[in-house]
Amino acid sequence: KKSRKRPVRVYMDGCFDLMHYGHANALRQAKSLGDELVVGVVSDEEIVANKGPPVLSMEERLILVSGLKWVDEVIANAPYAITEEFMNTLFNKYNIDYIIHGDDPCLLPDGTDAYGPAKKAGRYKQIKRTEGVSSTDIVGRILSSLSDMEVNKNHSKAFQSETGGSTRTQRSHFLPTSRRIVQFSNAKILRCARQLGDFLLVGVYSDQTVSERRGCHPIMHLHERSLSVLACRYVDEVIIGAPWEVTRDMITTFNISLVVHGTVAEGSCSDEVDPYVTPRSMGIFKTIASPNNITWTSVARRIVDNHEVY
Ligand code: CTP
Repeated sequence: KKSRKRPVRVYMDGCFDLMHYGHANALRQAKSLGDELVVGVVSDEEIVANKGPPVLSMEERLILVSGLKWVDEVIANAPYAITEEFMNTLFNKYNIDYIIHGDDPCLLPDGTDAYGPAKKAGRYKQIKRTEGVSSTDIVGRILSSLSDMEVNKNHSKAFQSETGGSTRTQRSHFLPTSRRIVQFSNAKILRCARQLGDFLLVGVYSDQTVSERRGCHPIMHLHERSLSVLACRYVDEVIIGAPWEVTRDMITTFNISLVVHGTVAEGSCSDEVDPYVTPRSMGIFKTIASPNNITWTSVARRIVDNHEVY
């Protein structure tokens, strides 16, 4: 029931470092304010100059943003500030109708509003920021988890003294409602349910399973991890709190025709029980080459190294 001939194009920019469900929820709301969502991913250099080094590179952040189900187009190496000049590029080259940002104040180093020009032009719209999560908070969670584990004694000691010895992991109290889960899902689920091979079901381990297998608490709790996975455009459904082992019962219940695992995985520190014995014995297990070797540990390593610089 669109009355306009041309689709309404909206633009949202950001760093999107350590992509989380707060970013996903922002992009979901932005998309609902128009027909097509164009996302500007701020360049590494601009982030360094405005907030300090990002953990993930431009290329990695682009892959993550492009994988979200609400994103139609991305602009790589976007500027941190939307100047008059860049605003005109957005309007004329990218046919943007509105520029969108969360309701948190966004000030440039000189103290002016980063979205001032867009507001003045009457082309600004706002979405609600998601409480309880941010890239900075995730970095904090990773650092306190590291110091709890004493994975790296020297680095975590340095962090401990910086924070006055208090290193208890801050756990977010975030709880998604059933409405939020539906908002993150999509109607495609029902249509694809019968088409085997066109439906991706992802099992997200419970917090307890992660703790038992890895010997440490997960950085993001079950609900946060489930929403993040659900925000991915390739995912149709999520089992919220999947068991470690893929059982025959699960395979039957969910009508699973193929179980897939990548070549790169975080090493488990407890006994090496193969969680895929059943699908292997049924001849429905497949290993696929992981496209890169990024893991929780390698991200934590980068954060510690970044911290050392500052
Ligand atoms: N955003 C949001 N809720 C959050 C975090 C971010 O709605 N919890 C929104 C911001 O308002 C912005 C977009 O996501 O419109 C991109 O944010 P980004 O530039 O990555 O940085 P921050 O706002 O600083 O968020 P973070 O601290 O998580 O990096």
